[in-house]
Amino acid sequence: MSDHVYWKEGSLYVLDQRLLPFKTTYLKCSTLKDVAGAITDMAVRGAPLIGIVAAYGVVVGMQEKLRSRPHLKESDAEKICRVLKGTRPTAVNLFWALKKMREAYLKFKADPDLIGHLLQAAVEIHQQDTENNKRLSGYGAELIDDGDTILTHCNAGALATGGYGTALGVIRAAVKAGKSIRVIATETRPYFQGARLTAWELMQEHIPATLITDSMAGYFLSRGRINCVIVGADRIAANGDTANKIGTYSLAVLAHENAVPFYVAAPLSTVDTKIESGSDIPIEERKPDEVTTIAGHRIAPDGAVAANPAFDVTPHRYIHAIITEKGIIRKPYNFT
Ligand code: MRU
Repeated sequence: MSDHVYWKEGSLYVLDQRLLPFKTTYLKCSTLKDVAGAITDMAVRGAPLIGIVAAYGVVVGMQEKLRSRPHLKESDAEKICRVLKGTRPTAVNLFWALKKMREAYLKFKADPDLIGHLLQAAVEIHQQDTENNKRLSGYGAELIDDGDTILTHCNAGALATGGYGTALGVIRAAVKAGKSIRVIATETRPYFQGARLTAWELMQEHIPATLITDSMAGYFLSRGRINCVIVGADRIAANGDTANKIGTYSLAVLAHENAVPFYVAAPLSTVDTKIESGSDIPIEERKPDEVTTIAGHRIAPDGAVAANPAFDVTPHRYIHAIITEKGIIRKPYNFT
């Protein structure tokens, strides 16, 4: 099991990603509020990881209820899922994982070891995600040539998932296959997942990486210095339109303009076939102070108005292929 999220003696422990790369501190989550707070406040982030943490959150919430009275009710499960569903709106993996946990609850609600079964369901979601990442990474690595320079955005590495990563997983698998790869990582304003997390993960793996500001991407793409772009995803609509970290859409348009292939790497738990196109994907709007401050330091004048959409949608026409655990899917996208 990965070490950035684990279950020990009845509690969930998560690596607090807000403190990376400078501090390795774990948060102990023993209440539903602890788990929901860890997701909303971005101690944990990344679509698959949000789903995994929410799954463990159901177990935490049910145990908490059992501390106050001897029996669980169906309304307990519903309330816990409602709280967890309210943490972040865009990544569909959250809703996918909670649906799986609800199914486990319904199956085992009369079983004396309900908690044990729920924990088992959460562990399975966690392990399955890591396995799926490894599988999709193997497929994705076939798209990469020896000597390629790959641009990636945000953090779609082990930290964002159950383990191994999606976009970074593809890069890892290509390196493992003996290919010489260089990575260009965007810093990813305003939350700096690229600078803080992707640079850190790549350095740990000794994969050569260069950090750039988001605004430098066009320069590198237009000079022929990028062979492909690979990003993760938070929600993929039935037609292939993909919501991912804010700035992804600009990268896709720039890649198209410069005839550079643009790939999305994501497990099928990120695909929402109930949503026909990207315009129906809910986009999280975060607090403006993430834009007006950096690491607690104000950088904009007092009273400056700022907007902070956390994701954008890349239309499917800009996406060359979607790399999943079932293989590489190309237009017209069919996920069934
Ligand atoms: O706001 P975040 O950090 O949760 O956003 C993360 C991303 O947008 C990732 O690119 C996406 O979740 C894919 S993670 C494998």
